[in-house]
Amino acid sequence: MSKQPVIIVTGASSGIGAAVAKLFASEGYRVSMGARRIERLQALSTEIKSAGGESIAVQADLTRFEDIQRLVNSTLDGFGQIDILVNNAGFGRIKWLEELDPIKDIQAQIQINLISAVIISHQVLPYLIEQRSGHIINIGSMGGLVASPTYTVYSASKFGLRGFTESLRREVGIYGVHVSGIYPGAVKTEFKQHAGINRKTGRTTPKALLLESEEVAQAVLKVVRRPRRSLIIPWQMRFTVWLNMLFPGIVDRIIERNFTRLERDI
Ligand SMILES: NC(=O)c1ccc[n+]([C@@H]2O[C@H](COP(=O)([O-])OP(=O)(O)OC[C@H]3O[C@@H](n4cnc5c(N)ncnc54)[C@H](OP(=O)(O)O)[C@@H]3O)[C@@H](O)[C@H]2O)c1
Repeated sequence: MSKQPVIIVTGASSGIGAAVAKLFASEGYRVSMGARRIERLQALSTEIKSAGGESIAVQADLTRFEDIQRLVNSTLDGFGQIDILVNNAGFGRIKWLEELDPIKDIQAQIQINLISAVIISHQVLPYLIEQRSGHIINIGSMGGLVASPTYTVYSASKFGLRGFTESLRREVGIYGVHVSGIYPGAVKTEFKQHAGINRKTGRTTPKALLLESEEVAQAVLKVVRRPRRSLIIPWQMRFTVWLNMLFPGIVDRIIERNFTRLERDI
């Protein structure tokens, strides 16, 4: 059996997850991918194999415990080991809280963005601890560092994921297991299609700050090569994080005046 390292990527059927799967396959990793849209995963798996790589595609609704177990077990059956877990599957419904559906928007977002990532980490961790090496990388968001209006539930899930990331790192570092968070700003993916964003002002992220999925994938590779606690991309967003941390009252007023009042028409 090949001894190349094995990476599990959740939500590899599009966007950031697909880019991470492709990049790591091209770097010689054996890639195990999970998502609901199996035809997309199979197409990506075929692409990886025809380029000489190794991959497994597992249809998994990761809000279901049985599907999480199936992804982990299929990876172990097919590749015999796990080295890296990238918790990427997720979505955002970016609307005022009162507009969200309690089940399809609120519960579902917290379930996939936070609870599923915690549970799959829980399932994979014993193998990493036993082999005294490994890396869990959680795809957070700027929404997990700076909370904005219309991001309430998304931010709750991503702040939660950040808390989980920080705490787990301090639990398992002594076993040689790394835990990192990647915090991207806006990325050009299908995320926006599912988000239901409807801005009266029509304002969007400036083009210069919009990331490609491949840039996030490169950030994941960077963190694997040189483990670190966290990485905020693009780097310019660090100023927003600092400003929010140091002067939250000023940020409240800027956002209320320049966003909430305009969008709420008050
Ligand atoms: N795009 C952005 O601006 C941005 C910024 C910061 C962070 N992020 C984060 O990046 C991650 C990836 O998002 P993306 O931008 O690449 O969007 P995307 O293209 O919509 O990809 C989302 C992925 O998550 C998977 N997924 C969603 N629900 C799932 C479920 N119940 N079970 C299994 N897989 C599920 C989807 O697969 P299936 O539909 O096939 O199941 C898809 O592969 C998310 O965690 C998101 O919060 C995105």
